[in-house]
Amino acid sequence: MNRKPIYLDHNATTPLHPEVKKILIEMMEIYGNPSSLHSDGREARRRVEDAREKIATFINARPDEIIFVGSGSEANNTVLSMMSCSSKQCQMTRKMRDEVITTKIEHPCIIESSKCLKERGTPVTYIDVDEFGIIYPDDLRKHLNSNVGLVSIMMANNEIGTIQDIKTLAEITHKNDSLFHTDAVQAVGKIPVDVKDLNVDFLTISGHKMYGPKGIGALYIKHGIPFCPLIRGGHQEMGRRAGTENTLGIVGFGKAIEMRVIEMESEGKRLLELKKILRTGFEKSIPDIKFNGHPTECLPGTLNVSFDGAEGESILLYLDLAGIEVSTGSACASGSLDPSHVLLATGLSAERAHGSVRISLGRENTAEEMHYVVKTLEEVIRKIRSMSTIYGRNVK
Ligand SMILES: Cc1ncc(COP(=O)(O)O)c(C=O)c1O
Repeated sequence: MNRKPIYLDHNATTPLHPEVKKILIEMMEIYGNPSSLHSDGREARRRVEDAREKIATFINARPDEIIFVGSGSEANNTVLSMMSCSSKQCQMTRKMRDEVITTKIEHPCIIESSKCLKERGTPVTYIDVDEFGIIYPDDLRKHLNSNVGLVSIMMANNEIGTIQDIKTLAEITHKNDSLFHTDAVQAVGKIPVDVKDLNVDFLTISGHKMYGPKGIGALYIKHGIPFCPLIRGGHQEMGRRAGTENTLGIVGFGKAIEMRVIEMESEGKRLLELKKILRTGFEKSIPDIKFNGHPTECLPGTLNVSFDGAEGESILLYLDLAGIEVSTGSACASGSLDPSHVLLATGLSAERAHGSVRISLGRENTAEEMHYVVKTLEEVIRKIRSMSTIYGRNVK
């Protein structure tokens, strides 16, 4: 097969935007250390601060509220780690409170670091979601108490695309005098995000989910919130994250954001139209399927669907042979045969969760590709089901 694969895994990562590629090539000549005082250092510093300003403006923050980190995972770990640190700074940050509330559908980097907190003695509560993956404000209210220091709830889910009402959840949290963090890795760059309007204390972003480079993330820390670094030993990032800045990554990230400012709104509308082609196509041609996630409060390019009587891994491999790249569950979890914790939390049976595929669209996908995907998936599901011993046995 000579044609380029149809890439439908943009929630795992995105290809570099052509403008980002150009700036990265240019940046290869800019080798100065942003902390150096000579001209090369000052040029690197100027470019880093220019990127910081672009990212801050995009989410309505101040540049001094943004620190660059190595990934979305690092930003999330940094926030959670403050809940078990015994330094004076961390005690102040969490107002001497020790409990954490998060949800059952977070990305593994939150689930795993919260498990680690639990092992060190920090009580952690995992809030349930409904069948669409929505967190009810009353469920959060029910679990808040005067020992809760931090609530961490993701803005948009990476597997099913469901978007939470972060403004309401943050408001409820603040009424309890607790801090609020949101993992907005899948949201920023896809839907409008305004940190002042949402009134969150911490917010996580990642470059490679919005056509920027991998290995670069940012953490928003609201002005005035006490903060304790995870990585120490340098004055970089206002003393909040040690280590010589990843100048290439930062500048590429800034350019990716600059392009999102231009493209996000029109792209969002276009991706919704492409998703509609898939949804109606699957509904018409493939029986016994279930769409997962919220029908409207959902990322424009994310479609998660379960097929009775077909394993997600088999679907993925057959589609790959036909030149279509999708995912089963989150990229970090693939390789593991455990059913997706997100789908299980929405009440799906293990069988249905196993038969699920995530399609996540991006800026280079076309309507023509969507029609090919519908036709191919219909053939693949028919083939797998014809070999299945369980299909037709009323799987729930
Ligand atoms: C919701 C969410 N949070 C965090 C991350 C981790 O981001 P990174 O890959 O930059 O570490 C991901 C990546 O898939 C994600 O989807």
